Amino acid sequence: MDEKPKKSKRDFLFTASYTLGAVGIGATIWPLIDQMNPDTSVKALATTEVDLTQIEPGNSITVLWRGKPVFIKRRTQSEIEEAESVNLTELPHPEKDQDRVKKKEWLVMLGVCTHLGCVPLSDKGEYNGWFCPCHGSHYDTSGRIRKGPAPTNMEIPKYEFVNNNTIKIG
Ligand code: FES
Repeated sequence: MDEKPKKSKRDFLFTASYTLGAVGIGATIWPLIDQMNPDTSVKALATTEVDLTQIEPGNSITVLWRGKPVFIKRRTQSEIEEAESVNLTELPHPEKDQDRVKKKEWLVMLGVCTHLGCVPLSDKGEYNGWFCPCHGSHYDTSGRIRKGPAPTNMEIPKYEFVNNNTIKIG
């Protein structure tokens, strides 16, 4: 006589539902993992290389990085001196100019007003830097807030000089 217990119909149903459960979990997790792997187009946007050779002293350009404008200003000697000579006690958000730049000639910062996020106008305002027309914030030649409702200086993004004429933002 065969003593082996036979698999009951109930065992089969358990087995079938465990299998389905495993497939179900696998199918749910994969799209989440897949979404966490940024594709190459997203990776490309994470950093931006900018050629500086076309920017004349006194001029600035705006580049888009991660959907935000970044101002790159090639400062003149007088703009640098103006930024460096400011008494820090006069500043609402005291920061030394040399702590905001990697090379004196180049100011790289997010072109976003720290009040409510408008894009300030360059070479405008009472401090020869930037002026935000939305509610009247004035920034100096280092992008520091000097007058108006903006609470802080314009932000410096992570960037580095790849060589003398190229920066990489991000
Ligand atoms: S958003 Fe710039 S002053 Fe309000």
